[in-house]
Amino acid sequence: DANDLGKGTYPYYMAKEIDEQPAVMRKIIQNYQNEQGELEMDPEILDSILASDRIYIVACGTSYNAGWVGKQLLEKTTNIPTEVHLSSEFGYNMPLLTEKPFFIFLSQSGETADSRQVLVQVNEMGYPSLTLTNVPGSTLSREAQFTLLLYAGPEIAVASTKAYTAQIAVMSILAELTAKAKGLPVEMDVAHELAIVASAIESVIDDKEIFEQLSLTHLSTSRNAFYIGRGIDYYLVMEASLKLKEVSYVQTEGFAAGELKHGTIALIEDNTPVISIITDKKTAGHTRGNAHEVISRGAHSMIISMDGLNQPEDAYVLPKVHELLTPLVSVIPTQLIAYYTSLHRGNDVDKPRNLAKSVTVE
Ligand code: G6P
Repeated sequence: DANDLGKGTYPYYMAKEIDEQPAVMRKIIQNYQNEQGELEMDPEILDSILASDRIYIVACGTSYNAGWVGKQLLEKTTNIPTEVHLSSEFGYNMPLLTEKPFFIFLSQSGETADSRQVLVQVNEMGYPSLTLTNVPGSTLSREAQFTLLLYAGPEIAVASTKAYTAQIAVMSILAELTAKAKGLPVEMDVAHELAIVASAIESVIDDKEIFEQLSLTHLSTSRNAFYIGRGIDYYLVMEASLKLKEVSYVQTEGFAAGELKHGTIALIEDNTPVISIITDKKTAGHTRGNAHEVISRGAHSMIISMDGLNQPEDAYVLPKVHELLTPLVSVIPTQLIAYYTSLHRGNDVDKPRNLAKSVTVE
């Protein structure tokens, strides 16, 4: 089977693509560096963003979840207000736009019909647009004014992993270069910070057995599961829960940890798995508090936390990275949990039922 060639010794593409992420981070740094080793991109993109008064990120699925992390990066780094929208909502129920919007389409494939129908309208209205895609020459790339490539290599598994981290990495470079062009003080040395991220991802992947074990003990038979987080960790748990539900078929939701008490805590029963993601020192104490609340209602709690946050002894500790880039590292355990849960439930990991890699109908 010719398709197996690309998998090497991996049983599934998803496993291979998870493992490729450190290399993808390094490739992105390389591809966006000039000969002097400085980050660089088409200055027309930066000028066009600087001429705008608001950025609208439009995407579907995993790309939409990456968009929320991108919003945080762009707003904190460039001070430009940024909104995130689902393509399938935006196109049919368009919000009031500002005078000078700039559109960013996130699409691994560059072929998603829901996103394309928005781009067609944006082009009709004459607004500037940029597509971030993994596929050069794809429809969304050709039809948008600008393109930035993800350099993640072909992503074959239906569940997206390396495209998510690649999208965030490219948006971090875009954010830094926009801030520089605007004359703002630099928030971080992105190339350096992404290199640290690459090593951090490697060390989490080295621990994959821990997450396989966790899947076997807590997710192999459970009906449902929850991820909780606040702030940037909330954005991350939206992706963590999508990944687990789409490949394992375990009904999984990602909640803003502070909202639990306003309704969703009613779902917690004996042994309900609840995974807390904690990487932000401003909210660490509060989310830890939420973990205790679910434990006292019988949940099986697991905490994935970033180094330096004074966590309980049983937490899995992620290597520390820059606070705006934590999702690049905290997503790795959640990808591994999704992969192993799907594998041990006997699913076709790379081709989950009812799903397509790229959806070309609205
Ligand atoms: C499909 C895939 C998802 C993907 C979404 C958006 O639904 O199953 O994994 O996130 O499309 O795809 P895109 O190529 O636009 O990023």
